[in-house]
Amino acid sequence: MLGSRILLIVGGGIAAFKIPELIRMLRREGVGVTPVLTSAGAEFVTPLTLSALAESPCHTALFDLTRESEMGHIQLSRAADLVVVAPATADLMAKMATGLANDLASTLLLATDKPVLVAPAMNVRMWQHPATRRNRDVLAGDGVAFVGPEEGDMACGEYGPGRMAEPDAILAAIRAALGDMSRAPAAPEDHRLAGKHVLVTSGPTHEPIDPVRYIANRSSGAQGTAIAAALRDMGARVSFVTGPADVPPPAGVEVIRVETARQMRDAVESALPADAAVMAAAVADWHVSNAGERKIKKDGSGRMPVLEFNENPDILAWLSRLESGRPKLVVGFAAETDDVLAHASAKRLRKGADWIVANDVRPQTGIMGGAENAVTLITSDGPEEWPRMFKSDVARRLAERIADALTGPVLFGAEVDA
Ligand code: CTP
Repeated sequence: MLGSRILLIVGGGIAAFKIPELIRMLRREGVGVTPVLTSAGAEFVTPLTLSALAESPCHTALFDLTRESEMGHIQLSRAADLVVVAPATADLMAKMATGLANDLASTLLLATDKPVLVAPAMNVRMWQHPATRRNRDVLAGDGVAFVGPEEGDMACGEYGPGRMAEPDAILAAIRAALGDMSRAPAAPEDHRLAGKHVLVTSGPTHEPIDPVRYIANRSSGAQGTAIAAALRDMGARVSFVTGPADVPPPAGVEVIRVETARQMRDAVESALPADAAVMAAAVADWHVSNAGERKIKKDGSGRMPVLEFNENPDILAWLSRLESGRPKLVVGFAAETDDVLAHASAKRLRKGADWIVANDVRPQTGIMGGAENAVTLITSDGPEEWPRMFKSDVARRLAERIADALTGPVLFGAEVDA
């Protein structure tokens, strides 16, 4: 991220008040930010605030001749590594989807040749309107990435999806987008996975407590997403089974969205047969067995309701021990906070996986939600420590190893250790 440049287009929504915080976070990470404010956006936040925090002039009008002489809008749209639209209103999304260019923001979005990340923010009905859904699909098809919107109470008093993602979630999506770009594309001739089907699980699972509450974990889905993209780049057909992740799924893979561990297991089963499986999801170990069908209310006693838990299916262990239809190569992950190697090696044998990718997820490593990862690949030959690198580079290296294993005369062996 350090040294990257972002063109940040701020649309007109109440969520614009969160943008100064996002700029502060980006500046702290050494990212250059050039703000662009739409006239509707200027109703919620001032150009002065944005330019002061970004330490860069805030652009506001298309026909600002002084600025035009300093930097034309074409140049402005291409000087960045990534264009971020936050908040993206229904109006801005509609302009983007149809290619309208009638103000500075929409002109920059039409003129840019850089990747675009959009953080929508609007009323729940506007988000659910068929026109907005259509526009979202068109933009996703054009390769635009999305972060959010989230579900929650809205400034207009309604409840539902439409609230802009929080600044830390937008930051994680920016990290993933920039990380993805920092990687040199796979060598064009390396399509060794063409004709292979690889299954990838990714993201957290959400285990409901009642219709509005759930138990989750801090997985952003960034590593699983990068792995799916790397496998795709090497020619594989990828089935991407994802829980509710912070980062958008990659283009060009089959996306199967699930919420709970049990749904994830069923989706994995439906996606079989596969040549290889990479289980990068942070699956919840338990689900609430007495989840409420209605929202659980306080009963006035001051006592908390007692939640009871049942164990979730272990998808990795189940897949690794399938008697028929087991993928030739099954790769699991082990996110640990202590005795990483010992726990991860034991996990490989216990679950019957061929390989385990182990990582240390103590908060001080910055790996959970960050752009980088430091992993050890554990195979039947023992542990192999990889240097700290971008998650996209970990993904590419792993995809190359998977191609070696699936296409070369390599024997790998859970069966040897089992
Ligand atoms: N996994 C899975 N299904 C589960 C739990 C985990 O498929 N119900 C997979 C994960 O996708 C990952 C691996 O198992 O590939 C390790 O997950 P982890 O959560 O680290 O292991 P746990 O089973 O929770 O082991 P422990 O409780 O010892 O940490």
